[in-house]
Amino acid sequence: MKTLIYSIHAFDRPFLETAAKGKHAIQFTDLSLSEETVSLAEGCEAIALFTGDHASAEVLEQLHKIGVKYVALRSVGYDHVDLEKAKQLGLKVANVPAYSPNAIAEHAVALILAINRKLAKSHDLMESNDFRLDELVGFDLFGKTVGIIGTGKIGAAFARIMHGFGCKLIAYDPEINAELITQTAIRYENLETLCAQSDVIAIHCPLNAETKQMFNKSRFAQVKKGALFVNTARGGIVNTVDLLEALDNGTIAAAGLDVYEFEKPIYFKDLRITPPADALFERLRNHPRVMLTGHQAFLTNEALEGIAETTISNLDQWQESGESENEVN
Ligand code: NAI
Repeated sequence: MKTLIYSIHAFDRPFLETAAKGKHAIQFTDLSLSEETVSLAEGCEAIALFTGDHASAEVLEQLHKIGVKYVALRSVGYDHVDLEKAKQLGLKVANVPAYSPNAIAEHAVALILAINRKLAKSHDLMESNDFRLDELVGFDLFGKTVGIIGTGKIGAAFARIMHGFGCKLIAYDPEINAELITQTAIRYENLETLCAQSDVIAIHCPLNAETKQMFNKSRFAQVKKGALFVNTARGGIVNTVDLLEALDNGTIAAAGLDVYEFEKPIYFKDLRITPPADALFERLRNHPRVMLTGHQAFLTNEALEGIAETTISNLDQWQESGESENEVN
């Protein structure tokens, strides 16, 4: 089944080539999917997308017109695809439902440790021969309360790590994870209580109509003063302007963000010659108490291998039976 893989990067191409074992007449492009690049898929039955690709209704219509039947997502999240439109057009969409949730959970922990113990600042001081410690005071995580929004695969892996740190855990999720309660004594609460009691807030839920802008001005007003805030889920869950205000008024002591509300035109790209013209992003990355990483939480060998294997398996299943076990529409 002839397949075009959009948004290929040096970091994931070898894993996909190994998993494909020469099947599916795979072609690669480093361009992302858009109305301008749809025509590259002419003659292909399937395409594979990454989180920076945007499969809007218009793009899906054009894909359908040129004969594409299958869309394999190299991600857990599928908020970048108009699933309703895909269904109407009979286009099948499958994701990678799980690939090392530990990779993302461990990155969230890395961000917490870095912003709490001010590692970036410490590195800068070291470089400038300033060995004073006055600006580097953090707090013990042991005994503190960590609020986790979304206790699915990644949130649960994160909870188990923080349990190991000796933290008390609170969760907010419409689905209760009974096994996690047994393993970590996590307590399910409403979101208001979680915000009021947590010293650290970590977001691990999907972006959907309910969670979009979940953290806005009124939500930050419920947060315990001086909390750490970490988001490795999706940028759209947080209103960035309101987060900056919460940082400036001292509600949030520091934020670690692997995702950004308007990251699509920025992340995964080499913009050294044409830097992003995004004033909000500029404010965020220049904020002294914000640490940004560029949507890299998934970036471990284990996760990349898992993504590649499931993507190729979705293509194999469509070729064999026209159906994949990981269809999301
Ligand atoms: P999952 O589907 O296993 O778990 C998501 C959990 O969120 C579920 O328990 C669900 O009940 C809960 N949830 C749904 N709506 C909610 C709401 N309104 N409030 C609170 N909880 C809610 O998904 P998984 O694998 O744990 O992934 C979580 C998210 O992490 C993904 O949706 C994706 O956005 C993000 N992600 C980020 C990556 C990165 O590299 N930064 C990589 C992979 C995933």
